[in-house]
Amino acid sequence: MNQLFRKKSLNLMLAQSEKKELARAMSLMDLIFLGVGCVIGTGIFVVTGVVAAESSGPAIMLSFVIAGIACALAAFCYAEFSSAVPVSGSVYTFTYATLGELFAFLIGWDLMLEYVLAISAVATGWSAYFQSLLTGFHIQFPASISSAPGVGKGGVIDLPAVLIILSITALVSKGVKESIKFNNMMVFVKLAVILLFIIVGIWYVKPDNWVPFVPFGFNGIITGAATVFFAYIGFDVIATASEEVKNPKKTMPIGIIASLLICTILYMTVSGVLTGMISYTKLNVGAPVALALESVGQNSIAGIISVGAVFGITTVILALIYAQVRLSYAMSRDGLLPRKFSKVNAKTQTPFANTWLTGFVAAGIAGFIDLTTLAHLVNMGTLAAFTLISVAIIVLRKKFPELKASFRVPFVPVLPAISALLCLYLASSLPLITWVSFVIWIGIGTIIYFMYSRKHSNLNQ
Ligand code: ALA
Repeated sequence: MNQLFRKKSLNLMLAQSEKKELARAMSLMDLIFLGVGCVIGTGIFVVTGVVAAESSGPAIMLSFVIAGIACALAAFCYAEFSSAVPVSGSVYTFTYATLGELFAFLIGWDLMLEYVLAISAVATGWSAYFQSLLTGFHIQFPASISSAPGVGKGGVIDLPAVLIILSITALVSKGVKESIKFNNMMVFVKLAVILLFIIVGIWYVKPDNWVPFVPFGFNGIITGAATVFFAYIGFDVIATASEEVKNPKKTMPIGIIASLLICTILYMTVSGVLTGMISYTKLNVGAPVALALESVGQNSIAGIISVGAVFGITTVILALIYAQVRLSYAMSRDGLLPRKFSKVNAKTQTPFANTWLTGFVAAGIAGFIDLTTLAHLVNMGTLAAFTLISVAIIVLRKKFPELKASFRVPFVPVLPAISALLCLYLASSLPLITWVSFVIWIGIGTIIYFMYSRKHSNLNQ
């Protein structure tokens, strides 16, 4: 029993991170760009339309607020942890120090599901936008290679989604500096097209389109919140970069909170303008933002925004691959996953083999599973992680009162408790099949822990 709940010493972790195997190259701006780069993507450009049409109507703005509050509460917990324990691995590492090895392994396992499926989900959204862009130039992919099977479009494999993942994997595997340069450039493009949409679109808003404001009732708003939650996923990723930022104690909390705030404001504004420009009933399409502009005759702006969306979504894939690799790197370094995952290539200073394995698995999934199924599973994994981190902060305060964090969550334990309950409430409105798949995944993880990780853990020595 003791072995299952053995904890990694915080001092040991800090000492390990001091070894600086990964280069400390990132500034606060880099970190905010990584956060925003990872968060704004398929969620706002694609999922918003589906949710407005099917769950929330114009009240999608409120769905974004509810999902945003859940994320903000979890973000506070992340910020405290990452400033107190600035080591690679994010919530996995924090759990290892507070709740013990078994929980840490399971949360790491859960996050691996979240990240890998999120890479696939976002690439699927990218593929939809890319294809709608090509249609503008009268280029049409054959149905068999343009979507995953089972969505009624005659698809066998979503080839564009597979190829974009492999291309970004090649980039990430080359090294952190090169990736950051690319990321910063793309985030800039993404923010520019979102602002362009707001500035142009706002003149076409007709308040009549906001009536009825809540067509599907309160339940619709909550179901919408559980789905648009996807749009916020990724801000936690910046906590995984703490071994590669300069001055992590200060930089991490500011980076997390600033990224989240920027995204919430943009989401509410975009969804407000979108549902004001065109009736929510028409938004269930692959490229809703472009559709709204076309519906008011702004075709060239719609084109510019589609190009920006394609580039913008690319950065989300990049940041998620980055996060997945850093997480499995941390778990492997602790002996809970095979050592190969933490082998750093001398030339690139990155975990090269690990990066490519991530890319191949995510590409394989993206080719064959559709966006909605993937998005629900990703949300489930994330809500589970947020619940655990909220509980872990309460444990941290009790067990390590002497720990100095540059950021501290206010009103502990009330705020973390509300955070955990809100996450569970949102998760409860996800489909049953999502819950079943999640339980199976955690079951497999438990078996691996008992068959492999427990014996190979560094804490055995
Ligand atoms: N938040 C990410 C997106 O919207 C996953 O694409």
